[in-house]
Amino acid sequence: MQRPNTKSYFLKTFGCQMNVYDSERMTEALVRDGYRETDDVANADLVILNTCHIREKAGEKVYSDLGRIRDMKDVRKRNGKNTVIAVAGCVAQAEGHEITTRQPAVDLVIGPQSYHRLPELIARTENTRERIVETEFPGEEKFERLKAPRRVSSPSAFLTVQEGCDKFCTFCVVPYTRGAEFSRSAATIETEARELIAAGAKELVLLGQNVNAYHGEGPSGRSIGLAELIRRLADIDGVERIRYMTSHPRDMDDELIAAHADVPQLMPFLHLPVQSGSDRMLAAMNRKHSAAEYIDLIARIRTARPDIALSSDFIVGFPGETDADAEETLALVRAVGFAQAFSFKYSPRPGTPASSLETQVPEEVKSERLQRLQALLDAQQAEFNAQSLGGTVPVLFERRGRQPGEFVGRTPYLQLIHTAADGDLVGRTAEVAVTEVRRLSLTGVIAAA
Ligand code: 5AD
Ligand code: SF4
Repeated sequence: MQRPNTKSYFLKTFGCQMNVYDSERMTEALVRDGYRETDDVANADLVILNTCHIREKAGEKVYSDLGRIRDMKDVRKRNGKNTVIAVAGCVAQAEGHEITTRQPAVDLVIGPQSYHRLPELIARTENTRERIVETEFPGEEKFERLKAPRRVSSPSAFLTVQEGCDKFCTFCVVPYTRGAEFSRSAATIETEARELIAAGAKELVLLGQNVNAYHGEGPSGRSIGLAELIRRLADIDGVERIRYMTSHPRDMDDELIAAHADVPQLMPFLHLPVQSGSDRMLAAMNRKHSAAEYIDLIARIRTARPDIALSSDFIVGFPGETDADAEETLALVRAVGFAQAFSFKYSPRPGTPASSLETQVPEEVKSERLQRLQALLDAQQAEFNAQSLGGTVPVLFERRGRQPGEFVGRTPYLQLIHTAADGDLVGRTAEVAVTEVRRLSLTGVIAAA
């Protein structure tokens, strides 16, 4: 039962889809506890920042936000109102007590494995004005303990199936902030999937830091992989589309490749980070595969699903990277052909092995390499989008657009597409003829519902 809506909360999410999912779960728990959401941070009784620690910039943004929120807290205090400031997410996990030292206005620091304790900890800091830092790894299914009904804000719903990572790429904080790999049981995932579908979801986006390492408990207690989980979810009535992210090349097994060939709901789009095209860099990054192995893997996936579109992550300027290594990354991009990709300058993260290497690459060299890589990736994205022109694609409409009568949806290849229509298309899938291609999105007209 819901208590009366007395208090308001403001929640800001940084970083990846996993944080978006966690924020949804926190929201549900807060709403169940009688909180209502506000987008006016200056008038919120509770402010939560769900933070990201993956690169330095993301972490620093949190502290500049906290400075502004502290000022608002001071103003509210002068007016006799209390404000609870909570920092959640990966900065909370990585920095713990450092956060309350750097910004004493923070009341609660809560790591991603402790969200089931959020309501209790907020109440405690409110009552005692005690500062709390909670960054334990309890090793239990936190989501099962965050018992609140699932709500959906979009026909495309995130569903976390595994968390953490055991790969220890030498640049990455995730194994430290999210801990060891943990897979939820198939039964709990299927229950949540049914709840999401009942609440209006049509597409399930299965999330995990290393999602294709999934090995949860299946029926009769044996462990199942991501491919079998996908097949089970595809059997649920009403599941129209399935996607998953983020995957590691080493965990792309034959069963998962086969699922791309024969599960109709599994969308022909795969985000498969490669990070670099240089074997020397891949080894230094501890990626556990070569450039040739990645290219061969892509060939096998394309054999199974010829129309699959590929996406990736790249890091330029990893310690010791030479011009020749950077060239090899460009060569890999040309060999594979990506529909879209994310690329970043290497950012040294405290506590990770690569951060203490003495061969750090100068900032201007990183910038120059990033520019060249992004120019190539942008050209490939433009070329990929241009192929859609004149064709027809099934579009799942996710929301209304800015113009009256405009709807925004996604093609199977995750392209954004805008369409004008009478009535309400949100949650519906329709065939759309592509009439215009822009840099980041397509425009089309309804061909058939
Ligand atoms: N510096 C730059 N990029 C990073 N990523 C992870 N750690 C770092 C880092 N220290 C990138 C990787 C990863 C994506 C989520 O973020 O490309 O796949
Ligand atoms: Fe980080 Fe991904 Fe490597 Fe795991 S596989 S350490 S999450 S980059």
